[in-house]
Amino acid sequence: MNNQEEKFIKVYPNSETASLYVAGRIASLIVKKSELGQKTVLGLATGATPKLVYKELIRLHQYEGLSFKSVVTFNLDEYYPMQAVDEQSYRSFMNVNLFNHVDMPSENIHIPDGTLNLEAVQAHCALYEKKIQDFGGLDLQLLGIGRTGHIGFNEPGSLVHSTTRLVHLNDLTISDAIADFGGKEHVPSQAITMGVKTITQAKEIILLALSQRKADIIQQALEGGISSHIPASFLQQFKNVEYVLDQEAASQLATNYCSAVTNP
Ligand code: F6R
Repeated sequence: MNNQEEKFIKVYPNSETASLYVAGRIASLIVKKSELGQKTVLGLATGATPKLVYKELIRLHQYEGLSFKSVVTFNLDEYYPMQAVDEQSYRSFMNVNLFNHVDMPSENIHIPDGTLNLEAVQAHCALYEKKIQDFGGLDLQLLGIGRTGHIGFNEPGSLVHSTTRLVHLNDLTISDAIADFGGKEHVPSQAITMGVKTITQAKEIILLALSQRKADIIQQALEGGISSHIPASFLQQFKNVEYVLDQEAASQLATNYCSAVTNP
């Protein structure tokens, strides 16, 4: 990115403090909107990155009265093909890491359906987009970033105007998933993902990146050129994006943003 000053980047000392900040942002939005009698429409991510965010949201629900009754969620993606009950499904991930522990009505939860026949996928993707619009769009989209630069499963080559669709996973993404699936042969090669356009239409976007493993791709996505080779770099064009990093993920950035944490 050329103008460093325009970026909204927060760097926290570690993954816990970064995650607590993000959970606090989500919780405040839910409280603010529910006081206005409005629903909060969240776009959610899976993976290692948001786990502590969800843990803190569960704590806020259990001990501090945060209610999810007015929350509607749309997950970014799901492997394809994938049974909802499969341990590796993103549906299971969300149940285990958030939904089973909060008071969100099950009808408010939306996750792309990995069980459909191929012929039904396109209509499902169009309906997913329509449902987001019917709820007035995403209020806040939480993102992680893959080492290929993917957001959602928008792998290199994805276009800025892309919408929800079936995609092929990049080799690096597949190899990063081997540990979860217990072997490369078990990792699905496809997924249904929201598109870059679906994501960037959210009113607010928080991209959370944690650990040294993300340092290189964060540097490229934030300070490199905007290109479909690094889909996360498209976010540079949008003002509604906040990057929340721990020190390790920020360690290759040219500018030292560490002072941002003094005023979280
Ligand atoms: C997950 C998703 C992906 C992940 C990314 C990072 O729903 O859409 O873009 O956010 O692959 O994964 P972790 O957090 O496991 O490093």
